[in-house]
Amino acid sequence: MSDIYKSVPVLPSEITPKSLYFNRRDFLKAAGLITGGAVLAACAPTGGSAASADPATVAAYAGKKDELGDPLNSYDDITNYNNYYEFSTAKDAVAPLSKNFKPHPWSVEVSGLVSNPKTYAIEDLVKMFPQEDRIYRLRCVEAWSMVIPWQGFPLASLLKEVQPTSDAKYVHFTTLMDTTQFPAEADTSSYPWPYHEGLRLDEAMNDLAILATGLYGSPLPAQDGAPIRLVVPWKYGFKGIKAIVKIELVADQPNTFWQDINAHEYGFYANVNPNVPHPRWLQSAERRIGELGMRPTLMFNGYGDKVASLYQGMDLKQSY
Ligand code: MTE
Repeated sequence: MSDIYKSVPVLPSEITPKSLYFNRRDFLKAAGLITGGAVLAACAPTGGSAASADPATVAAYAGKKDELGDPLNSYDDITNYNNYYEFSTAKDAVAPLSKNFKPHPWSVEVSGLVSNPKTYAIEDLVKMFPQEDRIYRLRCVEAWSMVIPWQGFPLASLLKEVQPTSDAKYVHFTTLMDTTQFPAEADTSSYPWPYHEGLRLDEAMNDLAILATGLYGSPLPAQDGAPIRLVVPWKYGFKGIKAIVKIELVADQPNTFWQDINAHEYGFYANVNPNVPHPRWLQSAERRIGELGMRPTLMFNGYGDKVASLYQGMDLKQSY
């Protein structure tokens, strides 16, 4: 861990009250920086990366729920309340600042300890692997959550293609480093850019782990990680690295962006765990965006039946 990042402020206080959040949105709207969701969808430039969902496609998701019966968050919530430090530390500023982001052309290098290293064009990844609908809860370490209908494919499908060697034990992901696209990446004294994340290989092979290329039946909006991002719903949201350009199979546990900033607050595993308090945020309960009040946070974000066996014998308190 690099000492220079120890003093950097950590994840922004989400604890922006909802009223303040909407006042900021009203201000940005008045300034012409953002528009309402429906108008935004209708006016989005074609081939661009701003939220450009066809309203009819979004409407087709009306009434859908996740497997616990929770309703979906709206397209507007999912595309206007974002953590994406390459654009801004303010959640409502990410959508307007990302509207000119170019997710094409794009390729993803899959390399390291594999028998078949390869660089894939994003179009080929979408063609090679059937895109599946996955409705997942996203639980941020900042104690808020959403329910998001993703489209994507199992990370395991891609890993099987490149064939990890027997020495490969972890997977390391890296976000695009490009200060013309991500101006904040010019400030390398405050943050250890590019954003980087990691999983243990068996976690990466779990069927719940997907690479998402869309949401609400539409191409992934820039603010949510276009053109391809990781979704691991049993872990805190910061593990879901956006705008991935490199996936490397490695022998040793890789560093992660937030660990490099503050290892005491952000662990490698970062499994959602209501029993392990975070120094600054409640972890036993969460606020679902769009709801008043708090709801209890579930162990592994409610996905324990599919992932708890990965951690048998591990001290989950330590592993946070
Ligand atoms: N990926 C990159 N490259 N940069 C980021 O700042 N933020 C993370 C994660 N992936 C982040 C990122 C955090 S803290 C969260 S909670 C989720 O993205 C938020 O995803 P969303 O904006 O689509 O809800």
